[in-house]
Amino acid sequence: MTADLRGRSLLTLLDYTPEEIRTILDTAKTVKRERAAGVYARRFEGRSLAMLFEKRSTRTRCAFETAFGEEGGHPVFLSNQDIHLGAKESIEDTARVLGRMFDAIQFRGFRQRTAQILAERSGVPVYNGLTDSYHPTQALADLLTIEERCGPLALTRLSYVGDGRNNVATSLLIACAKMGVHCSVAAPAELQPTDEFRRELSRLGDVGASINVTTDPRAAVDGADVVYTDVWTSMGEEESRAERERLLLPYRVDSDLLNGTGRPQSVFLHCLPAVKGKEVTAEVIDGERSAVWDQAENRKHTIKALMLLTLGLLGAP
Ligand code: CP
Ligand code: NVA
Repeated sequence: MTADLRGRSLLTLLDYTPEEIRTILDTAKTVKRERAAGVYARRFEGRSLAMLFEKRSTRTRCAFETAFGEEGGHPVFLSNQDIHLGAKESIEDTARVLGRMFDAIQFRGFRQRTAQILAERSGVPVYNGLTDSYHPTQALADLLTIEERCGPLALTRLSYVGDGRNNVATSLLIACAKMGVHCSVAAPAELQPTDEFRRELSRLGDVGASINVTTDPRAAVDGADVVYTDVWTSMGEEESRAERERLLLPYRVDSDLLNGTGRPQSVFLHCLPAVKGKEVTAEVIDGERSAVWDQAENRKHTIKALMLLTLGLLGAP
């Protein structure tokens, strides 16, 4: 069954049901096949997308711009050096104006509250392209990549090793809980998901996914189909870099740890950008079991699916 997502924002996957996530993933597979076959529709023709960036981006920006542009849409990149977002003009007023001119808004920045205000006041779908709290469009690409590489999500075991409370880990754990992926997180005590968030995760979905949290990376990866990590220092947290490197050094993903899954077919994922030699060795990320380039490509297909569904534009290509 295809869920109706017309008019919806994506601020966090907490707001999406497993059926709605399934619809996005299945639509992403369709648009990925279309592109591979050289079939280009013009489904975004006449539409415009405001792309607001307070933080840097390669993948997210390029995924939104190329997905929207290649089907005739007009994406407009607006950094906070360009517009008055929260400086000189309130976020509420900017949201009202953008909503009069654009069909949808992508926001990448610091506060989750900014994304919420944009959605509340603009009246058009708002897509969270990363905040300090969440990175939901990344998690959609992660799920698609896991399904492509490992088969049905509900039978899969994922191990997240590193900063277990950052935006990427949080959205990944929500997505996995909703779709029935079993997760084990290895992180130092200071960087583990909070007890409150773990209780929230255990209430999500109805598919009975489990989450275990440990300080021991070897225990966490045992039996895993997927080993996932992210940078040790996220954007906006640069003052913590030295402390993070001290805490997270034992959590580097190297060949020895990847082999610790005991499963020769297990894959390595990373949202990118990666700091090779810190959270992951070059041997792993550039090795045969790395699926990070598929994962990066899948940002585009999942984001295109999200925009087509929420803008009500899904028709025959
Ligand atoms: N994974 C990701 O969001 O990459 P960018 O920061 O390059 O957008
Ligand atoms: N956790 C990282 C993800 C970058 C895509 C950050 O926020 O910098």
